[in-house]
Amino acid sequence: MIVPLRDDLSLIVAPTPASLAGLAARLAAGVIGDAVAERGRALVALSGGSSPVVLFEALRERHARGLAPALDDPRIAWFQVDERLVPRDDPRRNARLADEHLFAPVGVPAVAIHAVPAEPSLAPDDVARRYEQEIGSVTGAAPGGRPPALDLVLLGLGADGHTASLFPGEPALDEATRWIVPARGPADGAPRVTMTFPLLAAARCIAFFVIGASKRAALRALLHPDVAGVVPPARRVRAAEALLILADAAAIGTASGEDRP
Ligand code: 6PG
Repeated sequence: MIVPLRDDLSLIVAPTPASLAGLAARLAAGVIGDAVAERGRALVALSGGSSPVVLFEALRERHARGLAPALDDPRIAWFQVDERLVPRDDPRRNARLADEHLFAPVGVPAVAIHAVPAEPSLAPDDVARRYEQEIGSVTGAAPGGRPPALDLVLLGLGADGHTASLFPGEPALDEATRWIVPARGPADGAPRVTMTFPLLAAARCIAFFVIGASKRAALRALLHPDVAGVVPPARRVRAAEALLILADAAAIGTASGEDRP
């Protein structure tokens, strides 16, 4: 089911995480394939967390069945939306999740994978600036200037309404120029860096991938900002062309017959 909510925002609902992942994989394949056909490359940014795993598996299955586009095409550049500043082999690293569930099984060439630098000796701000330089060198955009237009950004949604590593009440929410900034997550977590609203807003297509009943309240606040008068960080996300919210029935609240959002 596709529900147009605004001129730039559509809600897509599927019964289960697996069916939603299949839809999302087809959508991602279309956006990536069009980008390569039209511009000779595709710029894709992935989020971490647990939700994307089922989507990575769906993308992997498409690739294994030979469905276009081939995801090991070196013309597809893969970035991270955010990252924890932990050692490269730390299981908390988002890049490790993508590598384990998508890049390695598909055979994405290392030259196409643009992970956040894992250099514990660097301060978070230096890591952020290094990553901005990497994004700039791949896209041709100059850090500090107009953000590059990523073709597809996959976002998750936290139960508190965060997305990327843009958490409620954090300074990163107020960044108006930089593309990547240091960020703080949950109190006990590692330091992070995250894409900012300006970089996200330049993206052609952004897709929130939201599964599970635990996200019901956050999704309701995302869809209906007047709930409790609080504007969750995810609600501030904009895209240049298409902003999609893909949610399974459990997140929407129809799986157990509860009210629709
Ligand atoms: C991260 C993600 C973060 C995630 C949400 C939802 O680094 O963890 O970028 O924004 O998308 O926290 O996480 P789950 O999918 O695990 O619920």
